[in-house]
Amino acid sequence: MIVKGGTVVMEAREKRADIRVKDGVIVEIKENISLEEGEESVDASGCMVMPGGIDAHTHFDMPAAECKTSDDFFSGTRAAIMGGTTTILDFAEFQRGERMQDGLDLWHEKADGRSFCDFGFHMTVPEWKEGTGEQIRSMIRQGITSFKAYTAYQDSIGVRDKELYPMMECIKETGAILCVHCENGEVLEYLQKKYLKKNPDNIRSHPLSRPDLVEKEAVSRVIDFAEMTGARVYIVHVSTGEAKQAIGRAKERGVHIYGETCPQYLLLDESCYELPGFDSAKYVLSPPLRKKDNQPALWQGLREGVLDTVSTDHCSFFYKTYKHLGKGYFTRIPNGIPGVEHRMELMLHYGEQQGLSPWMIARATAENPARIFGLYPRKGVIGVGSDGDLMVVKTDFPHMISADTQNQQVDYTPYEGFWVKKKIRHVLLRGQIVVKEGKLVQEEPGGRFLKREISR
Ligand code: URP
Ligand code: ZN
Ligand code: ZN
Repeated sequence: MIVKGGTVVMEAREKRADIRVKDGVIVEIKENISLEEGEESVDASGCMVMPGGIDAHTHFDMPAAECKTSDDFFSGTRAAIMGGTTTILDFAEFQRGERMQDGLDLWHEKADGRSFCDFGFHMTVPEWKEGTGEQIRSMIRQGITSFKAYTAYQDSIGVRDKELYPMMECIKETGAILCVHCENGEVLEYLQKKYLKKNPDNIRSHPLSRPDLVEKEAVSRVIDFAEMTGARVYIVHVSTGEAKQAIGRAKERGVHIYGETCPQYLLLDESCYELPGFDSAKYVLSPPLRKKDNQPALWQGLREGVLDTVSTDHCSFFYKTYKHLGKGYFTRIPNGIPGVEHRMELMLHYGEQQGLSPWMIARATAENPARIFGLYPRKGVIGVGSDGDLMVVKTDFPHMISADTQNQQVDYTPYEGFWVKKKIRHVLLRGQIVVKEGKLVQEEPGGRFLKREISR
């Protein structure tokens, strides 16, 4: 397979070149590669060729209190690959008192043979007790090298500091990495109760009960634990300028900390909680959308590398049925929004407007997730020896994002009406063309589980 005539986005530069992929792997990158007899080619003339995206934060087929996410691995990864993402890392879960192994087995059942993208899992750890460390080591032997803790949702999946700290010690000892959802759970639960008394049916109560400093306080505490234990820690979905600054200061001190933000925090703001009727429920997620004046700091964080990645936290719930479960009672609205399909086109358009070059966008959406989560250089970059995961992007094809044309299995998109200039034209997974001229041409899911290893 040769991808011909495009401008190739490499690490920190761009160049005109053809790319040859053999047996799934890139074997040659140079100008004017001649086709061998019978060799297939894909036209990329006038287009950019970028590494297939890696979305390091999805929730497919995830149970919620009274429902479950509307996208499973089949629909979610199909939408992802249509949007230029060729690898996803999903959060596997199990409940307190259950075995971590059962959580992993369940997530394999959900994903194996049903994923269009190559995929891996982070394992969520909802408790720390005798034997948890051994279970973490067992996960690592099975290719799960990243874990997740929540400092909120303490009534279900979240952990207390006295659990988080030994978890981080274990993460340090094993060389794994811990993703952390940072909000002060005790404060926000107190505030939720307060707003439930005052204003249970007003969706504004959602952001009011989770103010900016509820995130920043937890981020700072988690950074301090990372510094004390020496663990590698990845702060998911950073939504505020203050949290970003705390991460920047920690990086300067040499703490092993990484920051992720998401398109929703870069592009949407708290005015979405002022919509008529129940429409604001479409934007209920945690952390909530913030005041617009946080956005320049987040973009700046991406430009200067304080924020390492842009993932989606794709967690879709049907608006008409599932989001409505919380009508009249804001804490019962399932938390989460869709985005896996639109991340790349949004970042290519709005990232460019914010001064991010194509390689900087590739760095945040592919290269850095690969480096942080043990997939580099197999994934995340265009280089000889890397997997032939590629997307070919039309650079001047203005179109509007809309639920009417999306592939995600959900009845709305939070980016309805957003214009984007670039369009995903072709997508290749390990050299196989999966999306051609914007259409899915591979009907069967061909994604493989990525068994990762600890690299020290
Ligand atoms: O509201 C959100 N983000 N739901 C998904 C779970 C999480 O907190 O990441
Ligand atoms: Zn979260
Ligand atoms: Zn999440």
